Amino acid sequence: MEMDKLVSLCKRRGFLFQSSEIYGGLNGFWDYGPLGVELKRNIKEAWWRDMVTGHDDIEAPPGAPEAYEMCGLDCTIIMHPQVWKVSGHYDLFVDKMVDCTESKKRYRYDQVPGRWVEAKGQKVFVTTLAEANHEQEIEARALKFFNLRAKDAADLGWQGGLVSLAKIDPAEYVKVLAPDAKALGTLTAPRDFNLMFKTIVGALGTEEDAAFLRPETAQGIFVNFKNVLDSSRVRVPFGIAQMGKSFRNEITPRNFTFRSREFEQMEIEFFCHPNSSLQWYQYWRDRRFRWYTEMGLSSERLQLREHHADELSHYSRGTADIEYAFPFLPAGEYGELEGVAHRGDFDLRSHMEGKLDPNSKPDLKVELGEDGKPKWKGSGKDLTYRDDITNERYLPHVIEPSAGADRATLAFLCEAYLEDQAPVEKGEMQTRVVMKLHPRIAPIKAAVFPLVKKDGMPEVAQKIYRELKKRWNVFYDEKGAVGRRYRRQDEAGTPFCITVDGQSLQDQTVTIRDRDTLKQWRVKVEEVTAELAERLK
Ligand code: GAP
Repeated sequence: MEMDKLVSLCKRRGFLFQSSEIYGGLNGFWDYGPLGVELKRNIKEAWWRDMVTGHDDIEAPPGAPEAYEMCGLDCTIIMHPQVWKVSGHYDLFVDKMVDCTESKKRYRYDQVPGRWVEAKGQKVFVTTLAEANHEQEIEARALKFFNLRAKDAADLGWQGGLVSLAKIDPAEYVKVLAPDAKALGTLTAPRDFNLMFKTIVGALGTEEDAAFLRPETAQGIFVNFKNVLDSSRVRVPFGIAQMGKSFRNEITPRNFTFRSREFEQMEIEFFCHPNSSLQWYQYWRDRRFRWYTEMGLSSERLQLREHHADELSHYSRGTADIEYAFPFLPAGEYGELEGVAHRGDFDLRSHMEGKLDPNSKPDLKVELGEDGKPKWKGSGKDLTYRDDITNERYLPHVIEPSAGADRATLAFLCEAYLEDQAPVEKGEMQTRVVMKLHPRIAPIKAAVFPLVKKDGMPEVAQKIYRELKKRWNVFYDEKGAVGRRYRRQDEAGTPFCITVDGQSLQDQTVTIRDRDTLKQWRVKVEEVTAELAERLK
């Protein structure tokens, strides 16, 4: 599937628009149109239902060490600034960026791939930002730089394969051809760039009132851990789920909604006893992977990737990414949909004692300032848990399955897009665009059509529409040829179309058409709701 076809369908049919488009858009911000908002809401609702409200607190699900409870939370986007100092985001949530003095563009240096090449006695590191066909793009740029023609490609002496600019010593930047530059050596040395958006709380507006838009929903859960324990009857092991907006001032937002500056996360912090934490980590990793396949992502495009020890964050004892082969990535590359991390007691301890020093691995000590006191003080509140059966008091370990609602939506859109052949009115075959979305997440569950706008058909169709509307998002359409109406619903991903025709007026039956198989069958009008309920399960 070519990405530009999906992007154009998303705009044409109202799944996704560029934010503030009439003013030229704002890079890294996206709006969901009438179909997109339903799709994303359905994905979030499916996650909440499957992880929280539909979860059986009494019996251990397959693969879980024991039964566990789940509850939800909805906390504010702006929190006490100390939260981010203690969590490490204030000091460490940075990307390295480089600026190009020629193009005036800014890049995240680990996202600029390039290759060393030598020609005419000069050695140059040629870079590109092209997502697909990196190698071809780099060759084309190298030929242009050395003033060579395509037939002279053999004169280029390549040294090594593709590497990220992050691996190049800044002292060698004089030999780097930046992605949008014509001259060499236009990049500045890498600098830290904090991804948190800063804002001012209150009328005084001084730096002391600075606060941050949350870059993740997770910290809201940790700082409410005690509140949840004290106000409900949950016992460890249990999980708290939260979904909502997060903000990151990404240096290079791109790939449609994949890397945005404002996005939604769906996160669970699961609290368990340290002794069983590895088993819980494995359980969540597998459970969350399965969820995507249950919702329709094909397992060939999905992979579970365990991080190597040197990739792990300073607090993590195990992390796995659930990744999807997005079509905008080069063949064989995957993009992260969700991370499942074993975070040990890092977060609860930090909020109790103060920011922990990442260099004091493995036992992690509170980071001290020049005065010998904690650099960023914790809350001082006791966040330990006492097991009222065994009387043991301990700091629970945390397993964190952290998903992105927008990335999941994008993956489901990519997976659903299909062009196939379907017959038009006179039986001849034509290419149709169909979004094969899982019925649970499809924006519209069914469309109801009168075959023609007369002979009492609209009245029957409207009655069915109103009946179905009590339970589902259903669409009524009486305009144009019925074949065209089917095609519009195929593009919207509507799984079923119900048509009232001449026969309906005689025997009170209607046809139901299946979006994927194109099969049509007749059902009694009074049985349409039950038939749909069965098929939309
Ligand atoms: N609390 C852990 C955490 O936030 P993360 O890997 O930084 O971990 C989790 O983010 C998920 O949030 C990612 O797997 C992705 O789905 C989503 N996400 C992160 N940054 C994003 C961005 N800039 N745009 C869209 N989604 C993003």
